[in-house]
Amino acid sequence: MKVISILGIRPDWIKMKSVLNELDQRDLEHIIVHTGQHYSYNLDRIFFEQLKIRQPDFHLDVGSGAQGQQAARIIERSEKIIADEKPDFVIVFGDSNSSLAAIAAAKINVGVVHIEAGMRSFDWRMPEEKNKRIVDHVSNFLFVYTRWQRENLLREGIPSGKIHVVGNPTVDIIRQVAAKARSTRILSRLGLEEKKYFLVTAHRAENVDNKKSLVKILTSLKRVHKKYAKPIVCSLHPRTKERIERFNLSIPVGLEVYDPMGFLEFLDLEMNALCVITDSGTVQEETCILKVPCVAIRVSTERPETVALRASLVAGLEPSNVLSSVEIMLRRKPNWKHPYGDGKTGRRIVDILERAKGWSPLNETLEEA
Ligand code: UD1
Ligand code: UDP
Repeated sequence: MKVISILGIRPDWIKMKSVLNELDQRDLEHIIVHTGQHYSYNLDRIFFEQLKIRQPDFHLDVGSGAQGQQAARIIERSEKIIADEKPDFVIVFGDSNSSLAAIAAAKINVGVVHIEAGMRSFDWRMPEEKNKRIVDHVSNFLFVYTRWQRENLLREGIPSGKIHVVGNPTVDIIRQVAAKARSTRILSRLGLEEKKYFLVTAHRAENVDNKKSLVKILTSLKRVHKKYAKPIVCSLHPRTKERIERFNLSIPVGLEVYDPMGFLEFLDLEMNALCVITDSGTVQEETCILKVPCVAIRVSTERPETVALRASLVAGLEPSNVLSSVEIMLRRKPNWKHPYGDGKTGRRIVDILERAKGWSPLNETLEEA
């Protein structure tokens, strides 16, 4: 059996580490393709080094660009490799433009495996919402984390036999590296004390590409600092950095801004934060798993499980709402139990794929007909 994994952005490498390892250890041929969507050292290579991920076999060098241009390059360049290599399956992950490599595979009748399928924010402004719907509907094997995600897919008419609830590989990686993360000493390096700082990330296009929304986020953080008199540690995504400069905005007092960090450092900061304020999808999962309060600075979430468990609140962007959401989260006891499984998701996914040896999308279509 031959499998190609096509990945390209920061969370892909972190969350797929256990799946990639499993694929490399089994009796099958595994090719890794890097789309090159993320390429800066601290959004890319740092994760290969820290998490000991092997070199990709191919690099598509797509780089940054407008939505259509980046998507087109990913589809065109991955199609060539898929056509040459003729794998049994192409694996894509999540909802970034890199996941659109699924279109290339589906068009030439190669089985598509989508990991992190079934999430829906129902926020059609998001580029990710379009991507995930497209990818789910061209996929043959859909791996979801929770039953809620399975239900989203069933509601859209995807047959239940294609959907596998397997847990979340974020649990796998946290278990693997938590002890290492604790030994980074990042708190002392940044002059922080446990549970005496807020941790912030913001990078969603619909939040930071809009000046009004970005101003609201910065104002919210200023007000959180004013109320709690604690450092607000911010890992600044390059998209957000560029927008702050372009809109000529200033960083509010109390906000301690750093370039994107390695996963080990960031995980240590997450584990010890008083509260995390973020628009990241994965960070919302990680805080739920780590039992750290989380306020989502967004108007929607594709992870409503975390809200239902009282592990996070979706605050919107209005500063008064962000402030009251922080107050509420700080009053809650972090006694929820996360819904993301047992840390064996990578193994479970590859077991299912191995059992599917010999499967072809063409046979399936004929059987359905
Ligand atoms: C992408 C994903 C988003 C994911 C995020 C993870 C899409 C549509 N969006 O958003 O779902 O949450 O990655 O971080 O796929 N840049 C650099 N260095 C890099 C990469 C990008 O400086 O290595 C800068 C460029 O100015 C670029 C901007 O960041 O224009 C945005 O990068 P892009 O890949 O388009 O989207 P992200 O915002 O990173
Ligand atoms: N992360 C990291 N360093 C940072 C900020 C985040 O390693 O400075 C990790 C974080 O722990 C999570 C992932 O990057 O595993 C989240 O990526 P991001 O928020 O960019 O993407 P999303 O999950 O929203 O698609």
